[in-house]
Amino acid sequence: MNGEEKFRLGVLGSGKGSNFVAIADAIAAGEVRADVAVVLSDVESAGILEQARTRNLLAHFIAPGKFRTKLDEDAERAYVSALCEAKVDLIVLAGFMRVLKGDFLRAFEGRIVNIHPSLLPSFPGLEAWKQALDHGVKVTGCTVHFVDAGVDSGPIIGQQTVPVLDDDTSATLHGRIQQAEHELYPACVAALARREVSVQGRRVIWRNH
Ligand code: GAR
Repeated sequence: MNGEEKFRLGVLGSGKGSNFVAIADAIAAGEVRADVAVVLSDVESAGILEQARTRNLLAHFIAPGKFRTKLDEDAERAYVSALCEAKVDLIVLAGFMRVLKGDFLRAFEGRIVNIHPSLLPSFPGLEAWKQALDHGVKVTGCTVHFVDAGVDSGPIIGQQTVPVLDDDTSATLHGRIQQAEHELYPACVAALARREVSVQGRRVIWRNH
């Protein structure tokens, strides 16, 4: 990539796509110097595909195959080839609800990021906002991290805190965490696109921070 070419994002999501929208809006506002090259989903009816198509972006449903929580081998190959074809520099997981494994991780080593709705390493896995509420923590938040072979375990790029209020329900807390996600994720992707982020062991260092 030379200095003139924009950073190319491949966005993967399974849900409504509010994080994708936040990133797409930040790109449109000139806050993130990148292009969304392709949006992929394992859910045919996912809002994220609709949101991408509304913006005239390439958006594909790719069937995940026979497993419930991961992609099967054929699906993995199809995702990797769609992302390679789109020449992506970075894969942005935005509510993609399957764990990525083997060949996928090897194909894009160090170039996959995820957003998780808790302050990792607390509450990895599903419904992290509910885990936080059930545990009784007073502060939670969201984390953007590199993806490694574990579940929500890769080096942390950025975090934003969110208070847990006495009258919070799962829905109100998740809503407040999502507002924080919509600030944090575009800011992290912007820094990655500017090549300002480097990994030293488990620590992610931001230049100019
Ligand atoms: C986000 O809150 C994201 O943190 C969560 O899914 C939601 C997707 O929302 N991801 C995970 O829980 C991954 N473990 P969106 O489709 O509106 O962006």
